[in-house]
Amino acid sequence: MSEPLVRLEDVKVDFSVRKGLFGSESIHAVDGVTLDIAAGEVVAVVGESGSGKTTLGRAALGLVRVTDGHVHFDNTEISALPRKAQKAFRRRTAAVFQDPFASIDPFMKAYDSVAEPLVIHGIGNERERRERVLQALHDVRLRPAPEIADKYPDLLSGGQRQRLSIARALVMQPQFIVADEPVSMVDASSRAELLALLRELQERFNIAFLYITHDIATARHFAQRIVVMYLGCVVEMGQAADIVRSPLHPYTQALIASVPEPDPANRLKQRPSLPGEPPNPVNAPSGCSFHPRCAAFMAGRCELKTPVLREVEPDHYVACYLHETDEP
Ligand SMILES: Nc1ncnc2c1ncn2[C@@H]1O[C@H](COP(=O)(O)OP(=O)(O)OP(=O)(O)O)[C@@H](O)[C@H]1O
Ligand SMILES: [Mg+2]
Repeated sequence: MSEPLVRLEDVKVDFSVRKGLFGSESIHAVDGVTLDIAAGEVVAVVGESGSGKTTLGRAALGLVRVTDGHVHFDNTEISALPRKAQKAFRRRTAAVFQDPFASIDPFMKAYDSVAEPLVIHGIGNERERRERVLQALHDVRLRPAPEIADKYPDLLSGGQRQRLSIARALVMQPQFIVADEPVSMVDASSRAELLALLRELQERFNIAFLYITHDIATARHFAQRIVVMYLGCVVEMGQAADIVRSPLHPYTQALIASVPEPDPANRLKQRPSLPGEPPNPVNAPSGCSFHPRCAAFMAGRCELKTPVLREVEPDHYVACYLHETDEP
């Protein structure tokens, strides 16, 4: 295989959180993640709230300092670069966030919102910038582009605003986009349309994506590979079709079981969904951190030592003692 575009190597990100009135302690938001993303590849990261998805995406973009490990982009270790030198790398990447109301400045016309990253990075003269902005608006189907360019965001719907954020990303002609829950805050009717648009742009411009989502069903739809995170760790990873068809980790199985069954006739047959809440990373359980919620918990094993992520089938990795064959 050719060199990956993005390479995360044993990446750890700790945050310091306050404890009591005076103390503080650190939590492992991302706890040793290794992941490659090829040029033009779409990798989805799924997991419940607090599992470290956003932090992982920010680390991949060099937006958060890694506590340990390495982030490489196109064979350059960006995590080792001084802040200033990271700028050159950053212009080849982009991010689309969850909330188009927060990520789009309400006081800027659509044109200026999309042009802003070009201005920040000093790309093109005014005429070239105008061309690129109108093209990006056209590409995300905000048409006629010159008309939309002149509008303030309060005249745009949630779905249209999210297209504007996508245009803002696209205008940089990035090779890599982190899309963090890009469709979760738009109304259901726009969701499929937005995903189809992202897919079309991804294919047309051969953009690599890290697609972050709670929803394993859209991950299956959008991504070639799925990475399942639990409390900062990857517990399962593989081809999207394999993960959804034959999930190996009890956590992944529970995530899939909790996807609402669209056909009411099948609803009764559904397996029980995930019990309890995700634990607080400040007091992460010992051993496999999923063990207190796991239907297949094996006492004397799972709570003692963290299972290692192993390739148990071709390109299908899982960290679970149920799938360790070389130990008694
Ligand atoms: N800047 C920060 N300071 C302190 N703790 C943080 C910070 N950012 C994230 N965390 C903590 O790190 C953990 C992982 O957070 P993160 O936002 O990456 O999770 P997530 O999987 O994206 O969750 P969600 O699905 O809710 O967006 C959480 O416990 C969160 O509270
Ligand atoms: Mg998040």
